[in-house]
Amino acid sequence: MELLIPTQLAIFSISIILLTRFSSSSSYSSPLSPSNLHPLVVDSALEHLNYTAISEFRLLNRRRILDCPDLNPYLQINVSGDTAIGNEEYLTVNVTGVMVPAKSDWVAMISPSNADVSDCPLNKALYAETGDLSDLPLLCHYPVKAQYVSKDPDYLSCKKEECQEYKDGKCTVTTCGGTLTFHVVNIRTDIEFVLFAGGFATPCVLKKSNSLTFANPKQPLYGHLSSIDSTGTSMRITWVSGDKEPQEVQYADGKSQTSEVSTFSQDNMCSNDLPSPAKDFGWHDPGYIHSAVMTGLHPSTSSSYKYGSDSAGWSEQVQFRTPPAGGSNKLKFLAFGDMGKAPLDDSVEHYIQPGSVSVAKAMSDDVDSGNVDAIFHIGDISYATGFLVEWDFFLHLISPFASRVSYMTAIGNHERDYGGSGSVYKTPDSGGECGVAYETYFPMPIPAKDKPWYSIEQASVHFTVISTEHDWSENSEQYQWMKGDMASVDRSKTPWLVFMGHRPMYTSGSAGGVDQRFLNAVESLLLDNKVDLVLFGHVHNYERTCSVYQNQCTAMPKKDQSGVDTYDHSNYSAPVHVIIGMAGFTLDDFLDEPSDWSLIRISKFGYFRGHATPEELQLEYVNAGTREVEDIFRITR
Ligand SMILES: [Fe+2]
Repeated sequence: MELLIPTQLAIFSISIILLTRFSSSSSYSSPLSPSNLHPLVVDSALEHLNYTAISEFRLLNRRRILDCPDLNPYLQINVSGDTAIGNEEYLTVNVTGVMVPAKSDWVAMISPSNADVSDCPLNKALYAETGDLSDLPLLCHYPVKAQYVSKDPDYLSCKKEECQEYKDGKCTVTTCGGTLTFHVVNIRTDIEFVLFAGGFATPCVLKKSNSLTFANPKQPLYGHLSSIDSTGTSMRITWVSGDKEPQEVQYADGKSQTSEVSTFSQDNMCSNDLPSPAKDFGWHDPGYIHSAVMTGLHPSTSSSYKYGSDSAGWSEQVQFRTPPAGGSNKLKFLAFGDMGKAPLDDSVEHYIQPGSVSVAKAMSDDVDSGNVDAIFHIGDISYATGFLVEWDFFLHLISPFASRVSYMTAIGNHERDYGGSGSVYKTPDSGGECGVAYETYFPMPIPAKDKPWYSIEQASVHFTVISTEHDWSENSEQYQWMKGDMASVDRSKTPWLVFMGHRPMYTSGSAGGVDQRFLNAVESLLLDNKVDLVLFGHVHNYERTCSVYQNQCTAMPKKDQSGVDTYDHSNYSAPVHVIIGMAGFTLDDFLDEPSDWSLIRISKFGYFRGHATPEELQLEYVNAGTREVEDIFRITR
């Protein structure tokens, strides 16, 4: 969905979600496994329940940084241990020597440590396009995350009292303190913690910690897999490192492949007359993105790899599975849209998707169980939206499962859209990334740069993946491609045709989200090519239709012997559309009176599971909190 402007926030509904403690029988030690799951994660998830897309913190960089001269000689902020930081840590930040603890005291994690967090009066208008027209300048560099010191329940009550001066054996000066925990992953650039007074609205700098460095900024991290073709014999592994020298992936007992290295800079971010967040205060150096293709693999087979170099370091050995080759028998896949990420501590950050952690954990457990061949994330990937450090946190979140099976993506508005950048929609939803960050982190088998459409075949399914953010009108390059792609499918080899993109054709979401021009241009292609299943996101809930064309049900599913809705495509009349944007972003409500074509509506965090054989597609909606299947249907032929 588009960014909400602050005036809309008042009517933004607050969703109530039940997030349960995670459980797993997995032996794979992921950052999310219960054995090392920090207790703050659960609290943090609950904290995010009331999150309404734009927090006061997010508006921070439109606030004037006031002078707050503080003559308190005892004030300190430091980090326990104060040594080089590992690849993932929960840092303890201590604020001590406070004379009068205030509710408005807060701590920001800043990176790099030399970033300017003072007043930037000339940046005043930069953020106006996000909808906030406050007449306030920007903080020059955006914090990675922040917390009020009062998150420590002992802070305001001064339970951590210290005596600073004695006279005649009596304490004459006492001060207070607070302790905060920050979840940090290796973002390569050094960090510092800054204590502010004045809340998020009128911040002023009180004290800065020493700068802290990562023990190994070159550490190869966040590996994730994708397919490059439909053979199941080659897989691309993409990872991040602070090292620009080529590294390699070593796999399948003795094979290796050297990485191609890419990156992007502030100059690659797009902007209009005024700099975008990505180009300006949201910029963070992405390091280097390494990518290598493992070849000579066998389809539907488990193997292992590690990536890195002797000088930069190596990843752990990762077990992975190749997808089935196109035309083979069975495929088990997961699909979802609009996941994003959420902090694994008590912090606020620029953009939080409250369901993302529980959904990622549930999918990770599914992958661990060996029941997943491939994953499709159909747009609105990380919601970094111009605050680039958030890509690292997102990659960290998905790495436990995206490193083990093919993780295929489609582009969404929050990766691509920006006025004047060539996107179909002129909203500033990508924050100035304009697809550059997405395309670098998630190289897909696409025809060329900024042409993010492709198809891939796995077992009995042909997946046609389009970009709803690029021109899809008749005679456009993408239209011609999708028409040709779907027409060329050999249905004796891949009997099932699944069409995927980001923005929907049908939704009963109360906020709408359908572009009638898109339906007018593309819907008939779906019918002409007998598309079986259409998956879209963008709207943040789950919804399944009848067989639908031009807003009319052309057929209804019939209950099979076990009561499961079954669509008979031996007598094909139109595709089934399913909205699967329920993977993380604050959920959307439904209209009170949905149309006849809407059969099932669920507004809970979860994901979509598919099981394909040549005879049948079995499809499920899984509630991530309870792990229960809350909708199941079949398509047969
Ligand atoms: Fe979207």
